[in-house]
Amino acid sequence: MSPANTVAAKPLEGKKAIVTGGARGIGRGIVEALARAGADVTVGDFLAEEATRTAEAVRRETGRDVAAVRTDVTRLEDAMALRDAALQAMGRIDILVNNAGWDHLIPFLKSTPEEWQRVIGVNYLGVIHTCYAVLPHMAERKQGAIVNISSDSARVGSLGEAVYSGAKAAVVAFSKTLAREHARDGIRINVVCPGLVDTPLLAEIQSQDFGRKVIGAVTSAIPFKRLGRPEDVAPLVVFLASDAAGYITGQVTSVSGGLTMAG
Ligand SMILES: NC(=O)c1ccc[n+]([C@@H]2O[C@H](COP(=O)([O-])OP(=O)(O)OC[C@H]3O[C@@H](n4cnc5c(N)ncnc54)[C@H](O)[C@@H]3O)[C@@H](O)[C@H]2O)c1
Repeated sequence: MSPANTVAAKPLEGKKAIVTGGARGIGRGIVEALARAGADVTVGDFLAEEATRTAEAVRRETGRDVAAVRTDVTRLEDAMALRDAALQAMGRIDILVNNAGWDHLIPFLKSTPEEWQRVIGVNYLGVIHTCYAVLPHMAERKQGAIVNISSDSARVGSLGEAVYSGAKAAVVAFSKTLAREHARDGIRINVVCPGLVDTPLLAEIQSQDFGRKVIGAVTSAIPFKRLGRPEDVAPLVVFLASDAAGYITGQVTSVSGGLTMAG
């Protein structure tokens, strides 16, 4: 067994990472886990103050360099600026985690073109933008790991999330294609699909009648009979970002308490 394939105590020691949407929820859990695993992190989030507070708290706890940059991933120029800020702060980018996302539950025929634009803009275009910004740097260095946060809805559909599910499925296909295109550059690209995770976004969804009913029904179908937590999702992201996952690319893995067991 080669050293690269063993799981180290600090599997990301010295690595430099970008996490989008890292201010709160699953993204915050990922920032914490990456820093505890030894990585320095630049957080890109449009909730600038919350992102700064998160960065300070994680820096205090872990002693790693953690910084926040106000970023709207729907804008390519913001993705470019996030890359530049990360390079200036950390010198290189080894890991990109595309976690920023947004949804609200609504039957498709009641949704509006403005909502479609927003959902596709954040959940799909946002991933395209950061990958476009960061991949040339990774390709030049012949190494890198990208982890894209999709959703179980991408694999099996989800009531009230037609456009969101489509955007998250697009992230899966996009990631697999990039994994093929950039394998020769030593870049691995994988996808993590959370099920239902207890975050501020889920709380917002549950604050509406339709959302509460759907989430209640789906929760009762989870074999583990509980919502996920950000710390349930983050360890898989750490693993996929680490050298121990050096032979894994183009893969899609659910973290959903068994809610979906898609092939
Ligand atoms: N919570 C769940 O049940 C669940 C399930 C499946 C997938 N997901 C996915 O997991 C990811 C995180 O979700 P969460 O539940 O933690 O949500 P959250 O709203 O609690 O956190 C999302 C973070 O992304 C940031 N963000 C949103 N739009 C942005 C933009 N345009 N530019 C930069 N930052 C932006 C927000 O400010 C926030 O900090 C999302 O991609 C979401 O689609 C969540």
